[in-house]
Amino acid sequence: MSGPGFTVRPAGVADLGAVVDLVVEVAGEGRWIGTEQVDRAQRHDHLRAALADPLRGVFVAVAGATVIGQIGMTLQPYGVADMGMLVEASWRGRGVGSALLGAGIDWARGAGAHKVALQVWPHNESAMALYRKFGFVDEGRLRRHYKRRNGDLWDAVPMGLILADEQPATDG
Ligand SMILES: CC(C)(COP(=O)(O)OP(=O)(O)OC[C@H]1O[C@@H](n2cnc3c(N)ncnc32)[C@H](O)[C@@H]1OP(=O)(O)O)[C@@H](O)C(=O)NCCC(=O)NCCS
Repeated sequence: MSGPGFTVRPAGVADLGAVVDLVVEVAGEGRWIGTEQVDRAQRHDHLRAALADPLRGVFVAVAGATVIGQIGMTLQPYGVADMGMLVEASWRGRGVGSALLGAGIDWARGAGAHKVALQVWPHNESAMALYRKFGFVDEGRLRRHYKRRNGDLWDAVPMGLILADEQPATDG
């Protein structure tokens, strides 16, 4: 999968330093992702383990040799693929997020997930627009759920994309 000036592909060990740098950068923006402080070594180890784990999918977007985005998927034992993603600030709004999310959803289908799930801050309008474009729906609101480092309590919106509508459910 690719777009103008970039390509999306599975991450390799050689990408991991740049991925950690990107997480640090976006965490430093302080507004978009849950992570506020990054233990670089721990994050690197976690990603490295993910590359060898069939229940986890890690994809990067690269422009030339530069990592400009990443998506991480984790297939839970109950069949839901949890995900998180980020795009470098100067590349946002240029289709990178869409390409990464497409790759992530394809991975989730291939891994046998019946649903893709995530949580997003209610003020993150571009992320919510991206998810809705792919068919995710809001599934409620976790009120005053996450304590930030400054003590503020932030709401979060769980969103989900059902991949297996035909299977029996207990929703009614
Ligand atoms: C959310 C994020 C991943 C989106 O990636 P992106 O590369 O900007 O996404 P795209 O360019 O593919 O845009 C996808 C859609 O998002 C929406 N969108 C993008 N930028 C937007 C903006 N500034 N305002 C409103 N909607 C926007 C549009 O619906 C767009 O689809 P369209 O181009 O067909 O209209 C990116 O903004 C990002 O990394 N933000 C910081 C980290 C983050 O928020 N991660 C997600 C945490 S839940």
